Amino acid sequence: MSKSVLILPGDGIGPEIVTEAKRVLELVNQQDKLGLVFSEALVGGAAIDADGVPLPPATLAAAQSADAILLGAVGGPKWDTIPDFQIRPEKGLLGIRSNLQLFGNLRPAILYPQLAHASSLKPEIVAGLDILIVRELTGGIYFGKPRGIREKEGGIREGYNTYVYDENEIRRIGRVAFEAARQRGKRLCSVDKANVLEVTVLWREIMEELAKDYPDVELSHMYVDNAAMQLVRAPKQFDVVVTGNMFGDILSDAAAMLTGSIGMLPSASLDENGKGMYEPCHGSAPDIAGQGKANPLATILSAAMMLRYSLNAGATADRIEAAVSRVLDQNVRTADIMSEGMQQVSTSEMGDAVVAALSA
Ligand code: NAD
Ligand code: IPM
Ligand code: MN
Repeated sequence: MSKSVLILPGDGIGPEIVTEAKRVLELVNQQDKLGLVFSEALVGGAAIDADGVPLPPATLAAAQSADAILLGAVGGPKWDTIPDFQIRPEKGLLGIRSNLQLFGNLRPAILYPQLAHASSLKPEIVAGLDILIVRELTGGIYFGKPRGIREKEGGIREGYNTYVYDENEIRRIGRVAFEAARQRGKRLCSVDKANVLEVTVLWREIMEELAKDYPDVELSHMYVDNAAMQLVRAPKQFDVVVTGNMFGDILSDAAAMLTGSIGMLPSASLDENGKGMYEPCHGSAPDIAGQGKANPLATILSAAMMLRYSLNAGATADRIEAAVSRVLDQNVRTADIMSEGMQQVSTSEMGDAVVAALSA
């Protein structure tokens, strides 16, 4: 039976990195007879340029009917000054997440041993790193209402957003995190700001309540400021981290650097039934777009997660991850993970190397 994969290249380096991931997917599709059928649609700035909106109805419909979605990245300076805040590339991405209820965002920060020297941290701090950040993705301050910019007395403008979670939203992301911890090192750290924010007082309470269903998982709590510090001080103390939308956004970029580069961090965004969108954690990198410098590995590794979580092809996912490791063994590096004695390659040459490793 065939399975449909929707590809959303997006903006900036998005099309460059997605091209490499698609080559990898097309190859394994043939090799492992996966029956994947690919289609493509516009999202983000590319969709604004073509259709005037960041998430055209046809793209949303295609996302809803696909078995899985692979996204590059959206955004860029070209669209940052559009006066209507609804017409922003990022709204396209947020619209897919929210319409498809992709609330469970898995961001695994794994250090490939070959990259210990690419991290800005000392190799002994990051060697053997394998943590999973579980980020709530369809609620919290990103989506809370009311929101906006208004004028108050005296003509003073104020911007406001609302940080809100109901207990069901907390419970469902909590379950994702406890289940993930159960499959791994059985330790879960819930990150909040329960010393200041009521919404996270409730968050903490629900995590404690869930812990009763998971006696095999050790639950701890940490304030987000301390968590940011601990992530760079001693990251290996963590196994699974669960947190809300905005804290998870920030902590996952910090965690990315532990793996050598943000260009190494993949992600899965899943709904209640395991349908998902897969994308690198990084953005559209306007500073290097169009120059063949972007690291495509986060996107290739996201494609592997897609095969594992949504397309029932775990063995193929394992093969892709092993191929990435072999490529790193061959000392091939894009600029972001370059270190002395290594061979620097372009985006497409990195893609070539992964394709070659899969064919060997
Ligand atoms: P960014 O992640 O795009 O870039 C941050 C830095 O990391 C840049 O120096 C960039 O060159 C580098 N970088 C990122 N990905 C890389 C890769 N694969 N290989 C090598 N280097 C890489 O973050 P930003 O500059 O804050 O944002 C740029 C745009 O991307 C903004 O419009 C933002 O809204 C958008 N964005 C989109 C997503 C997404 O689509 N999921 C995520 C984050 C940011
Ligand atoms: C990410 C990005 C997005 C987010 C933006 C582009 C909306 O930073 O996927 O991490 O904040 O979730
Ligand atoms: Mn982010």
